[in-house]
Amino acid sequence: MVRPYNPAGLTTPIAGIDVGTTKICTVIGELGHGGHLRILGVGVTPSQGLKKGMVVNIDQTVECIASSIDKCQKISGFHIEQANVSIANPNITSKNSKGVIGLANNGHDIGHDDIERALDAARTMAGPTGRDVLHVIPRGFVVDNQEGVKNPIGMSGSRLEVETHVVVSTGGTIQNLVKCVERAGVKPLELVLEPLASAEAVLTDAEREAGVMLVDIGAGTTDIALFLDGQPWHTAVMPVGGSHITNDVAIGLRAPFEVAEELKVKHGRASSEGVLADEPVRIATEGGPQQYMRAELCDIIEARVEEILHMVLGELHDSGYKSVLPAGVVLTGGTASLSGIAQVAARVLEMPVRIGIPGELEGLIDTISSPAYATSVGLVRWSFREGTGADPQREDRHNQASGEIYGRLRGWLKAFLP
Ligand SMILES: Nc1ncnc2c1ncn2[C@@H]1O[C@H](COP(=O)(O)OP(=O)(O)OP(=O)(O)O)[C@@H](O)[C@H]1O
Ligand SMILES: [Mg+2]
Repeated sequence: MVRPYNPAGLTTPIAGIDVGTTKICTVIGELGHGGHLRILGVGVTPSQGLKKGMVVNIDQTVECIASSIDKCQKISGFHIEQANVSIANPNITSKNSKGVIGLANNGHDIGHDDIERALDAARTMAGPTGRDVLHVIPRGFVVDNQEGVKNPIGMSGSRLEVETHVVVSTGGTIQNLVKCVERAGVKPLELVLEPLASAEAVLTDAEREAGVMLVDIGAGTTDIALFLDGQPWHTAVMPVGGSHITNDVAIGLRAPFEVAEELKVKHGRASSEGVLADEPVRIATEGGPQQYMRAELCDIIEARVEEILHMVLGELHDSGYKSVLPAGVVLTGGTASLSGIAQVAARVLEMPVRIGIPGELEGLIDTISSPAYATSVGLVRWSFREGTGADPQREDRHNQASGEIYGRLRGWLKAFLP
């Protein structure tokens, strides 16, 4: 029997669909005791129809999303009607923007409507049209001249200012993704920038408060989210990832892509340091067993890994926040499973680095307890953190008729305010 799935309360299960370049993963989970996430179902399908995180073939993408949802439904026994969906592609840009509004009568208590107006002003200042805005995330408020206000509700003043982080995805990328998920039979609850979702699964609150950078190195993209005082200050998506490493191995060792992928995953290291020059590795191929030199393999991998990490470093320098990250870097995404990558990252980025694996899970955790599933797990946690499972106004933000996804004004308000 199929159990009805209707996200109408905090304890109701939430579903997430990670639409990645190599895999689509649907996860459904509910909040268990002590903040643990009880995983009720997982459905993973190899991804087709996406390039560098962007939909390039709608039919193929729909088919893969539908297959992943179907697997998850069969395993969990839930019928999935709505889900949080990940998005990361090179058309994404972000900036910090300020919104300022006047408060009608000096002395009137600041309410939710005032905050929404201030957030709207910040979104307008950032420039994009509503349909391209993914997130408008409040980072702090100023009431008149009082800075550092976390919650202005109930305060009095004549001027309300909000500092926000605005994330925008242009070129129809949001609309194409929404179309694919809807055609696969599910309504997107929230579109969530991939590194923000991954952060939910692998960062601690203490790291987010202290200052930390989340780096999700997937197959087609490397995504960054930098947190300070608990909120995102900088996000970026770079069109490079693990599939570029595999491509380099395929070209360098003159091997088919599948063989190169197996070589990388089974025998690869992020650095050739300590690898013996004459150590052979053997792989079974269609044409019989093939032998390669491990040091040569690791040299090729090292060059691309360093290049990716230098791009991350460049992004970090450009952000201007490099010196304020005491909690260092948390690496996640499938490529974070590459042996030795944390050491190479610590050397290049000159910061402490740890690998982020989704934790505090129970239930069907075998597949997803690995960095490649940080986004999928984070998409489920996303709704539990902000407590929007029961928010009937979510409908407003996803207006099917116009195809517009509105910024997460209400959602983030709930996260930010008590
Ligand atoms: N043990 C491993 N060693 C090296 N690379 C690995 C390992 N396991 C997985 N990978 C790589 O991780 C990548 C897949 O990561 P992930 O599943 O996070 O990507 P994705 O979410 O599908 O893509 P994206 O987020 O870029 O759209 C592939 O390039 C794969 O080769
Ligand atoms: Mg990914």
